[in-house]
Amino acid sequence: MDRYLVFGHPVRHSKSPFIHTLFARQTQQELEYGLAEPAVDEFAQALCTFFDQGGKGCNVTVPFKEQAFALVDRLSPRAKRAGAVNTIKLTDDGVLLGDNTDGAGLVADLKSHGVTLADSRILLLGAGGAARGALAPLLAELPSELVIANRTHTKAQQLAAEFHDLGPVTAQTYEQLAGPFDLVINSTSASLQGELPPLAPALIHTDIAIYDMMYSASDTAFISWAKQHGASQTMDGLGMLVEQAAEAFTVWRGIRPGTKQVLRELKRNLGVI
Ligand code: ATR
Repeated sequence: MDRYLVFGHPVRHSKSPFIHTLFARQTQQELEYGLAEPAVDEFAQALCTFFDQGGKGCNVTVPFKEQAFALVDRLSPRAKRAGAVNTIKLTDDGVLLGDNTDGAGLVADLKSHGVTLADSRILLLGAGGAARGALAPLLAELPSELVIANRTHTKAQQLAAEFHDLGPVTAQTYEQLAGPFDLVINSTSASLQGELPPLAPALIHTDIAIYDMMYSASDTAFISWAKQHGASQTMDGLGMLVEQAAEAFTVWRGIRPGTKQVLRELKRNLGVI
């Protein structure tokens, strides 16, 4: 049977096996999908061993996405832009192809929530790996403006300069930000520590869409904060998780699975509904 897995550390709580098993059942594909948690300095060896032993493809998550970027034979254009690889496929001619489906997953999830990206003013919080992966797919949707704000302003400036050729992207400090924005995307890891990016509450209004790439069983700190200040449309990263997985599944199997039912089952599994 074709074998796939996700590499991460820690990875025990990953929902990828659950999601991909449902995709396989839905599309009647025969495959198995597992977990691998190598020590941080043993990822390269573990990756080689997996493919030597007949593995067909894998997902890669924190902290291995940049290592995977350096280890694959070939990169997709979107992985090259993202500077990170979250999906690897062994091609029929034996090449390890590195791809990145995170940004496509974000855009697909935003669209499934009915968020309009064309001609919108988007504020992207954070300038780490998650922000980098999101930039090209967001700019491809032709927003009127995309502003990056980051605690360390120089990193936002670097990212804006790097993606400037793809669209109207600029960097501003949190203090400089002036609304109204149509959509705020939180790509920072602040929610992980229960912290908040230093965003002025005045930027939140009833018609704004709020997206936190993080997710948890209850509202993330950022979503609670935005609701408190009047945001009515808030979304967390669970849908993005399912959508990036669907994109990876499509890369591997050539069949696009439906995501709605799988997202519903995942929410049930997590106790969210
Ligand atoms: P990832 O790959 O998930 O993007 P990362 O590369 O470590 O992770 O980036 C984390 C991002 O969250 C960074 O933009 C970081 O800001 P700095 O560049 O200033 O470090 C941001 N971040 C983390 N904690 C934050 C907090 N409490 N407030 C604001 N931004 C925070």
